[in-house]
Amino acid sequence: MHSFHRRFTSLLLVAPAILRAGAADFDPLQYVDQLIGSRDGGNVFPGATLPYGLAKAVADTNSGSNQGGFTLDGTPILGFSALHDSGTGGEPSLGNFPLFPYAACPGDDLNLCVYPKRTRIAHGSFDSKTVVARPGFFAVTLNSGVKAEMTTSQRTALFRFTFPTATNGAHPLLLQDLSDLHNSRQDNASISIDPATGRIQGQALFVSSFAQGAYKSYFCTDFSGSKIFDTGIFVDSRASSDVKNLTISRSINGYPLPGGAFIRFESPVTPVIARVGLSFISSDQACSNAEAEIPDFDFDAVESAATDAWREKLSPIVVSTGGGVDQEQITNLYSGIYRTMVNPQNYTGENPNWNSGEPYFDSFYCLWDSFRSQIPFLTVLDPAAVEQMIRSLIDTYRHEGWLPDCHMSLSKGYTQGGSNADVIVADGYLKGLTGGIDWEVGYEAVVKDAEVEPFDWCCHGRGGIDSWKSLGYIPVQDFDYKGFGTLTRSLSRTLEYSYNDFTIAQMAKAMNKTTDAEKYLDSSGNWRNLYKENQTSNLYTGGDTGFVGFFQPKYINGTWGFQNPLKCSNIDNTGSVCSLQNTGAETFESSIWEYGFYVPHDQGSLVELYGGPSNFVKRLDYLHDRNITYIGNEPAFLTVFQYHYAGRPGLSAKRSHFYIPRFFDTTPEGLPGNDDSGAMGSFVAFSMIGLFPNPGQNVYLITPPFFESVNITSPVTGKTATVRVVNFDPTYAAIYIQSATLDGEPYTKNWIDHSFFTEGKELVLTVGKNESSWGTAVKDLPPSVGEYVGFNGTGAGPSRRTLRYPVEFGRTGLAFGQ
Ligand SMILES: *[C@@H]1O[C@H](CO)[C@@H](O)[C@H](O)[C@H]1NC(C)=O
Ligand SMILES: *[C@@H]1O[C@H](CO)[C@@H](O)[C@H](O)[C@H]1NC(C)=O
Ligand SMILES: *[C@@H]1O[C@H](CO)[C@@H](O)[C@H](O)[C@H]1NC(C)=O
Ligand SMILES: *[C@@H]1O[C@H](CO)[C@@H](O)[C@H](O)[C@H]1NC(C)=O
Ligand SMILES: *[C@@H]1O[C@H](CO)[C@@H](O)[C@H](O)[C@H]1NC(C)=O
Ligand SMILES: *[C@@H]1O[C@H](CO)[C@@H](O)[C@H](O)[C@H]1NC(C)=O
Ligand SMILES: *[C@@H]1O[C@H](CO)[C@@H](O)[C@H](O)[C@H]1NC(C)=O
Ligand SMILES: *[C@@H]1O[C@H](CO)[C@@H](O)[C@H](O)[C@H]1NC(C)=O
Ligand SMILES: *[C@@H]1O[C@H](CO)[C@@H](O)[C@H](O)[C@H]1NC(C)=O
Ligand SMILES: *[C@@H]1O[C@H](CO)[C@@H](O)[C@H](O)[C@H]1NC(C)=O
Repeated sequence: MHSFHRRFTSLLLVAPAILRAGAADFDPLQYVDQLIGSRDGGNVFPGATLPYGLAKAVADTNSGSNQGGFTLDGTPILGFSALHDSGTGGEPSLGNFPLFPYAACPGDDLNLCVYPKRTRIAHGSFDSKTVVARPGFFAVTLNSGVKAEMTTSQRTALFRFTFPTATNGAHPLLLQDLSDLHNSRQDNASISIDPATGRIQGQALFVSSFAQGAYKSYFCTDFSGSKIFDTGIFVDSRASSDVKNLTISRSINGYPLPGGAFIRFESPVTPVIARVGLSFISSDQACSNAEAEIPDFDFDAVESAATDAWREKLSPIVVSTGGGVDQEQITNLYSGIYRTMVNPQNYTGENPNWNSGEPYFDSFYCLWDSFRSQIPFLTVLDPAAVEQMIRSLIDTYRHEGWLPDCHMSLSKGYTQGGSNADVIVADGYLKGLTGGIDWEVGYEAVVKDAEVEPFDWCCHGRGGIDSWKSLGYIPVQDFDYKGFGTLTRSLSRTLEYSYNDFTIAQMAKAMNKTTDAEKYLDSSGNWRNLYKENQTSNLYTGGDTGFVGFFQPKYINGTWGFQNPLKCSNIDNTGSVCSLQNTGAETFESSIWEYGFYVPHDQGSLVELYGGPSNFVKRLDYLHDRNITYIGNEPAFLTVFQYHYAGRPGLSAKRSHFYIPRFFDTTPEGLPGNDDSGAMGSFVAFSMIGLFPNPGQNVYLITPPFFESVNITSPVTGKTATVRVVNFDPTYAAIYIQSATLDGEPYTKNWIDHSFFTEGKELVLTVGKNESSWGTAVKDLPPSVGEYVGFNGTGAGPSRRTLRYPVEFGRTGLAFGQ
């Protein structure tokens, strides 16, 4: 906790610099639209929360894709709850303990109100025009006339219900239900209501959504605003004011029995405020959280504090709103940025499993999605938060034995590919994060991923370590008796493990662990073992793609297996099984075509294998133009910018404009896939500011921003980095960099490192309508383990050059936190 306070102090000291970064009247919050991605599978959480807040209040709809709670797809509301995740696929997560309001029970008869979730949705219809969503606030009016508004502090939600004037003095009712979105409640949930104060306390055990495990959550609800008429509990469809306590079993037939408490208010009512304190420790702690955070039920003050918190988080990035730029694009940017800070969630002080004094974050949902650009984006915008997240990952290693790969609701989630926490830890180390992170323990944790096979590699670490060491690849149908997980994805796991090892090597190198650095650099080359140089690829519709040389699965005995390189691609309509099923493919949620570019550390060698830069570009174009890749899933992200490695940075710019706004716009259906805790948001944000990371390396690939200028103030140093576009063209015909300067000096490299942000440099990009020779020479290409060969040597550099690892792969040499 100690260094937290120091960090906090330094943040306060640099605050004036943050204010100087932009125009005084610029409010980024006006450009946040939380409803982007609330329809057609974006699954975003569009409600009220703080940055990384545990409390997330929104209306839950009865949609088949209500993973984020609320959807704008015409389905009715089943309640208003205060725990959520954002953007996930799979089963809905959280959504616990919904409140539901009735203006009155028919005839004022308690038993004529509808209690069970499945039937009360008949009273949950609403007009989407009544929906208001802005940072820290959400509101909707039910067709019953009840208006629900909500805001939150860190662990407490405040709901304000305004009831229509009741006829005949009937009494408005609020119920609180022992349920969650996924109907996963287990036995012995309990709830009680205090008839004198109306306080409702309760707890229940639920199943974590994409994980092995369960979690208990607790709440404490208090009311303010109107006099209590009566209180009681309900079970199934009946209620009684004679009973104040309930302990309920799960069910007799699979669906959790409806049960909860209710409270009715004297008529006429003033707006009723329900304060829902939350905890994963106890219902007493839920009460004390609520009392400490919101002592006075002051809705407007809580909302205003939430608004301020968001404004402070988003203000370090200021883009020019001029130059004729489409204002929708500004909304696209800031909404994307906003979503990067909804998950992970700060559960510090709410971890029932250990109490070490370290920060505790949960809803890393999942790192396979967020290592690519979400966490790296926060390393730019909110490094103090990433420092706490990395401390939490390392502390999870200390207490659970392994870094998590996916983690939500206190449970370890399923691993999709490699041990990608390694990439996040290395990325933070190379970019100079400090903040009290014990890097030695962090290093120990990533090495354990590489060296020790867990018994249950379903959910952390890696499988097949014996084969990895002896064969240099993960074989299809591995013989593995030491640990257990789904024996699929041998090809994508080989590629991901290779890159994971590379990031460990870089960390080792920077930490002067030379022997380890060489060892992991060596194994980072294992990807080569699955490259089959004479493999062809036929189209499903007949004919040949014309490309030769693809990764292929291989058996333990060294014999090649076969997987159609297009299997599990976006154009595979054959019903392939591509996720974590036992019958799944050798690539996870993606094709060999797409994984064929996943060698983020050795693009030089890959370009050579694919027949030189022009053939590499042809292959990358084919991947995108033929819809083999789909930008709605995260493995596609880096492929948009990999033209940089073939000396064609202009084509990366062209490709990012191909996808934005065509696949990412500001409508509710404006996301191409699940937002995945803000992964899609971070893709938009990095693409639009024109600096896309190759995560796990100190590298950002340069393309022109979508705005005339972008200022980014480092919350750590208080210095402002600027990217400015000369000849800015709001129609985006001129998106090709002709020349560049960095702090006034000519700059020809097509990439830049993290010191750009921390040292507040100025990059000026002059753009034109045609590609130029800028950034195309071998000396200007990003780092690669293997040489770049077969280039013509356009520009000023030599035509062939060995990039001496690790000279180019450096760590930002800045001591933070002084
Ligand atoms: C629920 O409570 C009953 C009665 O106390 C007990 O027998 C049972 O084991 C409990 N179930 C669980 C899952 O704790
Ligand atoms: C009802 O619950 C409250 C709060 O948990 C507790 O204080 C009280 O003893 C309970 N009453 C009964 C009858 O179980
Ligand atoms: C960026 O910062 C510079 C000063 O560092 C300022 O002149 C410029 O107006 C800022 N740009 C925007 C868009 O606010
Ligand atoms: C997380 O919560 C703890 C405890 O409330 C707080 O000290 C810390 O600053 C929070 N971290 C972030 C990034 O908000
Ligand atoms: C590694 O060694 C170099 C050269 O001796 C030194 O400058 C640097 O501080 C060392 N780094 C670490 C993390 O020990
Ligand atoms: C492809 O190469 C392998 C060796 O890697 C060889 O065994 C096989 O015969 C070749 N197949 C064709 C069709 O040339
Ligand atoms: C290697 O193993 C595969 C799968 O069991 C088998 O089909 C193949 O015939 C074996 N190759 C050799 C050379 O034994
Ligand atoms: C790719 O998909 C887009 C729709 O997203 C479609 O317009 C285009 O025709 C497709 N291209 C090919 C080659 O199938
Ligand atoms: C840009 O390229 C086009 C052909 O692609 C050519 O006609 C035009 O003259 C070029 N413009 C400049 C300014 O070089
Ligand atoms: C190299 O030159 C050849 C012939 O002029 C050309 O076809 C190819 O595209 C060039 N490659 C690169 C990477 O510039």
